[in-house]
Amino acid sequence: MRRPLIAGNWKMNGSAALVEAFGKVFADAKLPADVDMVVIPPFPYLDAARHAFSNTPLRLGAQTLNPLHSGAHTGEVSGRMLKEFDVAYALVGHSERRQLYRETDEQVFERLMAALEVGMSPILCVGETLEERDAGHTMDVVLRQVGHVMARLEAAQRCEVIIAYEPVWAIGTGRTATPEQAQDVMAGIRAYQASFDTSLAEQLRLLYGGSMNANNAAELLAQPDIDGGLVGGASLKTDDFYAICQSAG
Ligand code: G3H
Repeated sequence: MRRPLIAGNWKMNGSAALVEAFGKVFADAKLPADVDMVVIPPFPYLDAARHAFSNTPLRLGAQTLNPLHSGAHTGEVSGRMLKEFDVAYALVGHSERRQLYRETDEQVFERLMAALEVGMSPILCVGETLEERDAGHTMDVVLRQVGHVMARLEAAQRCEVIIAYEPVWAIGTGRTATPEQAQDVMAGIRAYQASFDTSLAEQLRLLYGGSMNANNAAELLAQPDIDGGLVGGASLKTDDFYAICQSAG
C-alpha cells in the first residue's frame, strides 16, 4: 500500500501570520494518521514554520534548490542549507520554474540529484501544456520529462523520488483535469516505471496537481494511480488544505 501524500505549495504567497495559523489549526485538528502532509512555503518562512509546526504532523518542503552545496551564486539556496531547517522534501521541475525561469530537463535532473544527495525526497513535477495536449503529445512530453531523470537513477535512488503530474493548463486556472484524464497519464507514468522494475513501480508515489481543492480532491484521490496531491491555491487556506488532507485518509 502506498502512503498518501498531500503537499501544499504556497509558491510566492503566504505570510508569517499564515504560518502561525497553520501551526494552530493543525495542532488542534484531528488528522488522518496514515497520510503524509507537507507545507512548502517560500524560503523566508521555513524557520518560523519549523517551530510553528513542531506540534503538528506537517513536514516541510522547499520550492527549489541549487544543485551545488555552496559558492558564489547570489540569490540561490542549497540543499545542505535547507536540511538545517528540517526540510524533508524538495520540488524540482515545477512548470513555473521550467517556463518562467527556463529550467531545462538537465537542470531539473541536477537539482533532483542534489536533493537526493542531502537526503531529501524530491518531488519531480511533470506535465504538458494545452498545445501539447491538443496536439496529442501528452504522453511523449510527460515521459520525456520523467525519463530524463528516472532512466539515469540507481534503483535505490528511484525509490526516493515522488512524481507530481501537473497538466500546465490546469495550474491556477480552476480547470482541473478530469479524474479519468489524470488517471490515464498517471497509469502511463507507472507503466513506464514498471519497465525498470515492477515492484518499484508499485511503490512509486504519484501526486496530481492542478486546481485540486476541497470539492474535487476525494474524486481525484479515489483513482487507482493517484496517491496524493500537489496543491497550490487551495493550500493557502487552512480549512481547505485541512479538508484535502482529510480526503486522503
Ligand atoms: O504546485 C502546485 C500546482 O502548481 C497547482 O497549483 O492548485 O493553484 O492549480 P493550483
